[in-house]
Amino acid sequence: MNLPNAFVLRVEQELPNQASKLFSTIAENAPSVSVRLNAAKNRAEHLPLNSKVPWAELAYWLKERPVFTLDPAFHGGAYYVQESSSMVIDAVLAQLPSYKKALDVCAAPGGKSLLIADRLAEDGFLICNELVPKRAEILKENVIRWGNSRISIVSGEAAALAASGCTFDLVLVDAPCSGEGLFRRDPDAIHNWHPDLPTQCALMQNTILEDVLPALEPGGHLIYSTCTFGRLENEAIWHQLQSYGLEPVALTFPAEWGFLDAADLFEDMPKSSAFRAIPGYASGEGFFVTVFKKPEVSGHVLQSESVAVVYAENPVVHPQAPLKLFAMAGQQFAALPKQWAYVLKLSNQLKVIYPAGEVGYMHPQNGFVPAHALALSTDVLTDFDKHSFDLTQARWYLARKDFSPVVIPTGYFLIQWQGYHLGWAFNKKGKFVNCFPAAYKIRMDLPRI
Ligand SMILES: C[S@@+](CC[C@H](N)C(=O)[O-])C[C@H]1O[C@@H](n2cnc3c(N)ncnc32)[C@H](O)[C@@H]1O
Repeated sequence: MNLPNAFVLRVEQELPNQASKLFSTIAENAPSVSVRLNAAKNRAEHLPLNSKVPWAELAYWLKERPVFTLDPAFHGGAYYVQESSSMVIDAVLAQLPSYKKALDVCAAPGGKSLLIADRLAEDGFLICNELVPKRAEILKENVIRWGNSRISIVSGEAAALAASGCTFDLVLVDAPCSGEGLFRRDPDAIHNWHPDLPTQCALMQNTILEDVLPALEPGGHLIYSTCTFGRLENEAIWHQLQSYGLEPVALTFPAEWGFLDAADLFEDMPKSSAFRAIPGYASGEGFFVTVFKKPEVSGHVLQSESVAVVYAENPVVHPQAPLKLFAMAGQQFAALPKQWAYVLKLSNQLKVIYPAGEVGYMHPQNGFVPAHALALSTDVLTDFDKHSFDLTQARWYLARKDFSPVVIPTGYFLIQWQGYHLGWAFNKKGKFVNCFPAAYKIRMDLPRI
């Protein structure tokens, strides 16, 4: 691996005591593979689990990399493949007060959104934003697989999130960055890097943070993270955030995890206020994380107006409404009133990619047509007939190959493999109709049944 010269020189200058271990680790060791299991689904016991990732619940390194695409449990949302050091967001969330209105500003492909969603307070919800439309679609696929109906997805600029008037008690900015921490696993990250990139990224990071901060409620928490090594995109941003009047939050990272306290690297950083994963120290790729709290004082410069007004504007989602199921334009059905209020409010400023908890729609002739998300949902009742497939059949179903089981239930029914729901099928006058979304289908060659 040829690391860019300017990068090597800068790391040697900024991290003189860690640079050589970092370079030799990424040159000599292959990146590890790790997954986080979905607590709301069956545990993926068939995976080659190795040791536990100590800083995240239900997270494991694998002994080897399976072909995830061919594993029906992957499509059933039994686990999410996620780089291990970035999963430390779970340990950070565990140290913060419970949150009900969370915002993930830079969310795709979604690993950290799923971490946030899994720790939501009982009546909480998460709004994910992803600026790049194609990436927002990948995020949607991952969110639907995970099955948590309290996640909505919008697409737009950070400024639009704040302009919507919605406010949040938890905001994550996992910022677009120069990606130096991924050099070992992603050759494109090296290819795309140039000496000006960290400066350009730092400017963008500052803009995103400044733009979104009005959406953070007084007393709420901001998590800022990157997967890069430079001070400019990490500790310099920390100083910028502090200059806005935000209060640094002390984090506890046990020494055995191998994360380095930024205070031990840079004299200008207070103890426990930011941590770095550096290959050779923590097991995983490069990562930086810090947390700030917005002061409780009302009238603070960054405070935004309350979003309460949205309920009056949208009587259909009045917070006291006894209903849990709402009919929306276009005959879409979805649950969770407060979340919908936010989605409606956000829809004035941003594109709604996925309004959350899709259940299905009413077809004028055929009646209720279930949504793919309903099949994978872990919190909406799916009292439908089920049909189990073996491994080969499940793969053929997921690839939308032409085949038909001999005996099938009537109407719409769930296809499952080893207890994991994979999607819907429909009995059309005795003919098996595969309803697995074409956009998500397996595109690899499969052995014949
Ligand atoms: C580091 S990635 C996020 C990874 C994600 N949090 C996860 O855990 O899977 C940063 C994301 O920010 C998006 N992005 C790029 N420019 C942005 C901007 N100006 N505002 C908000 N997001 C942006 C990128 O498309 C990218 O998906």
